[in-house]
Amino acid sequence: AWSAAFQNEPFTDFNQPEHREAFLKALAAVKGQLGHRYPVVIGGKEVYTEQELVSRNPGHVREVVGRMSQAGTDLAEQAMQQAQKSFATWKRTTATERAALLLKAASLLRQRKHEFSAWMVVEAGKNWAEADADTAEAIDFMEYYAREAVRLSETSLHQPLPRVPGEENRLQYIPLGVGIIIPPWNFPLAICAGMTTAAVVTGNTVLLKPASNTSVIAYQFFKLMKEAGFPDGVINFVPGSGAVIGDYLTAHPQTRFISFTGSKEVGLRINKLAAEQAEGQIWIKRVVAEMGGKDGIVVDETADLEAAAKAIVVSAFGYQGQKCSAGSRAIIVESVYDQVLARVTELTNLLEVGPAEDNAPVGPVIDEKSRDKILEYIGIGREEGRLVTGGEQVGEAGNYIRPAIFTDVPVKGRIMQEEIFGPVLAVVPARDWEEAIEIYNDTEFGLTGSFFSTDENRISAALERMHCGNLYVNRKCTGALVGGQPFGGFNMSGTDSKAGGHDYLLLFTQAKVTSRKL
Ligand code: SER
Repeated sequence: AWSAAFQNEPFTDFNQPEHREAFLKALAAVKGQLGHRYPVVIGGKEVYTEQELVSRNPGHVREVVGRMSQAGTDLAEQAMQQAQKSFATWKRTTATERAALLLKAASLLRQRKHEFSAWMVVEAGKNWAEADADTAEAIDFMEYYAREAVRLSETSLHQPLPRVPGEENRLQYIPLGVGIIIPPWNFPLAICAGMTTAAVVTGNTVLLKPASNTSVIAYQFFKLMKEAGFPDGVINFVPGSGAVIGDYLTAHPQTRFISFTGSKEVGLRINKLAAEQAEGQIWIKRVVAEMGGKDGIVVDETADLEAAAKAIVVSAFGYQGQKCSAGSRAIIVESVYDQVLARVTELTNLLEVGPAEDNAPVGPVIDEKSRDKILEYIGIGREEGRLVTGGEQVGEAGNYIRPAIFTDVPVKGRIMQEEIFGPVLAVVPARDWEEAIEIYNDTEFGLTGSFFSTDENRISAALERMHCGNLYVNRKCTGALVGGQPFGGFNMSGTDSKAGGHDYLLLFTQAKVTSRKL
């Protein structure tokens, strides 16, 4: 129950043989379910369309994970009307009722943890630990937002507004309306679940437009919510092309909010489209966007250099660098630069590249398009600087790229400024720790960062000066935990929201104040 304090879901220890066996079993079970067709689901009604998107295993591109029906604007419109209808009743349910369903979903997911992780291994190319962490984070979001929704509703009943003589004043957080949820493929369960459940637990109804590359996992999540008891029509499953239904729904006059996680380009496009008043539209749409990062790790000469080198490698190459939190820049104080670079290179060269099913530390990147874009950046890196190691495409069957390290790149170079979303790290020297922080801050993003040092004064200065939403000291810059580390960045990293934090649910509500004469 939500009266119990929130606790993060523990990660699975795959060194234990029984966990390894259980995971292999789940993988085999998922492998037995590949290639199915999946529908669009509107108000509980399943619609199989002629047009399908074929989702493939990024590590074995001939393996079809599933065939996903694609909604066009007609189905998108139907889904919008359904969500409007469902909103009329869903908004009247209490936060406690909604939160109870969410806790039920969390408990079902906990029971079927490995199955969901296995889908991510196969459809997203996550190795076991990355997939397991993704599932754990999904459980965390549900547990956390269930409690937060209840807390908010209690706040609304008991908010201690200063007393006005002769009147009783109350503030209540009420839902916004129908929202469009557009999650990313890189945390295909956690972020999809977090974005969707935050919106519905506060009383909104939604159209969930899953990321094309990982729409089968999104469908498994959708089914889980149905199983947990969320009424039909509260979450409508609307897979389809961003250019067709993404734009259509963003511009729709009845859309009240759009919750998006993905690239800066798409985020800015949504923000722009949403800003126009469509005919018949009677509100300013709210946009919650979590976009990219060009995150970095700063290391000074007093730091534990071994710990720093390990953190740099994990932050840069965990899930092939396909995290908005990935540490794609390492900025090292000159006097220890050669040593750190050598150790980072050594550790990187030890990383095996191979299928996610085999639990290789470095798996495939998500698809051909992404692979080609990353390879293009590796070409740019060769022109701008020096390739220290990696960067070559490997294997025939999938989209594998050996982790690449560049150095001697200009601070203003594209490799240092643009989000690549792949296993590419730039390592540069700085005269001293202060210059290192300046280089760190020199991007248009501001999502995550790390500072490695043992000097307390410098740590205090870094905490103040490094401008990002999630700043870590003496640890990696990925893997924020729900609750303890509310996640989201500054500047072009998004709309400054904090997923998994105290104020996140407010983004999906509006405050209504009632004042009654006594
Ligand atoms: N929350 C994830 C992390 O911190 C990124 O989305 O790595």
